[in-house]
Amino acid sequence: MAKTMNLGFLGCGNIGGGVYHLLTEMHDEILEREGIDIQIRRALVKSIAEARTDIPKAFMTENADDVLLDPSIDIVCEFMGGEQPAASFMKRALENGKTVVTANKMALALNWPALQAAAADHGAGLYYEASVGGVIPVIRSLTVSLDADKIDQVMGIVNGTTNYILTQMTQQGRSYADVLAEAQKLGLAEPDPTADVEGYDAAYKLSILSSIAFHTRVPYDRIHREGIASVTPDDIAYGREMGYTLKLLAIGKRTDDTVEVRVHPTFLPNAHPLARVDGSLNAIYIHGRYCQDMMLQGRGAGDKPTASAICGDILYAAKHLENPTVPSFKNTDTPDSDITFSDNWTCRFFIRLDAADTPGVLGRVAGAFSGKNISIASMLQRPAADGRAQIILITHEANECAVQEALASLNPEFVKVESMIRVEN
Ligand code: HSE
Repeated sequence: MAKTMNLGFLGCGNIGGGVYHLLTEMHDEILEREGIDIQIRRALVKSIAEARTDIPKAFMTENADDVLLDPSIDIVCEFMGGEQPAASFMKRALENGKTVVTANKMALALNWPALQAAAADHGAGLYYEASVGGVIPVIRSLTVSLDADKIDQVMGIVNGTTNYILTQMTQQGRSYADVLAEAQKLGLAEPDPTADVEGYDAAYKLSILSSIAFHTRVPYDRIHREGIASVTPDDIAYGREMGYTLKLLAIGKRTDDTVEVRVHPTFLPNAHPLARVDGSLNAIYIHGRYCQDMMLQGRGAGDKPTASAICGDILYAAKHLENPTVPSFKNTDTPDSDITFSDNWTCRFFIRLDAADTPGVLGRVAGAFSGKNISIASMLQRPAADGRAQIILITHEANECAVQEALASLNPEFVKVESMIRVEN
């Protein structure tokens, strides 16, 4: 006998519409194949009068309680975005024993302890595959397939907007401002692009990803975050010349007792699998003691790919309603006491300097680095206007703090630091 599963939507915009259409199109096949009769009962919208017209108005309500308190609703699907009221609505739904499915990385990353506690205390499921990497099944890969492994590194292109912008800058030599303006015109970047271009979106995703991968709570505020607004076509071009491609990466690394989590523009060797992930695609590269190297790639946004991941969660939730699971971060507000978050990571560094092209300047630069025990791996010098030169260095592995100190010690009268970009292998 078929099992009926009643859904309530919180929000019904682009993603909600995608889910509505997938479930409508696939309803009979899911019923036949899985024995589950999925019914969408209510959808909370801001204004029924202004709501999208391809979804029946009969489902719609402007009162959240019609979704959160309706005893017939089994699964609440949250598509509102933003932290509030999405997080408090999800919490209320869980407290009412309803399973929650969401793609809302911001609400999850900032409210995980409360949401997980509400789920656990009320025997409700909480599923969020679409919150990181859109359709890429990275949450389930980490929580199920790789659960027995010891993951020590996750490195992801988890923001499609910035990957699109950097790809255009790389391929066409255009400026950040120029490509961003075009992306906004094409609807590929938001009118207010801050969350994407300043790395907030990637940092929320990294909080979720690294918490799951490393089995420890990674509070969002422990993540070092830099965006792409200061990246120049010159940096990208010099990096290319030296064999590297620039990406905005979300990087998590764990040793026995230390976690480092950072989002920033990063050069990767051109042959690295992530270096070839272009346009708005997302990809997550994982390294573990037993799985070794692996990469998952796919569409990180868009109504259809996101709907695919959300509906996968809905079906999984429907099959596990009596025995719900909360693929889990740890349920603590603070990181585990045995974990230290490090800001002094080790990697290589790309450094671009604008220097007076006079005797001894290179010696001063070399001296500043050798004084901090930093070894230079390769160097490029190009003449610039007004008797100046561009000096581009790539270091061997060095500590972040040592590099910052070396750069701060350069006399700006002779040597101006134009950019410092981390390099990963
Ligand atoms: N704005 C995100 C991106 C998608 O550009 O990838 C949703 O997280």
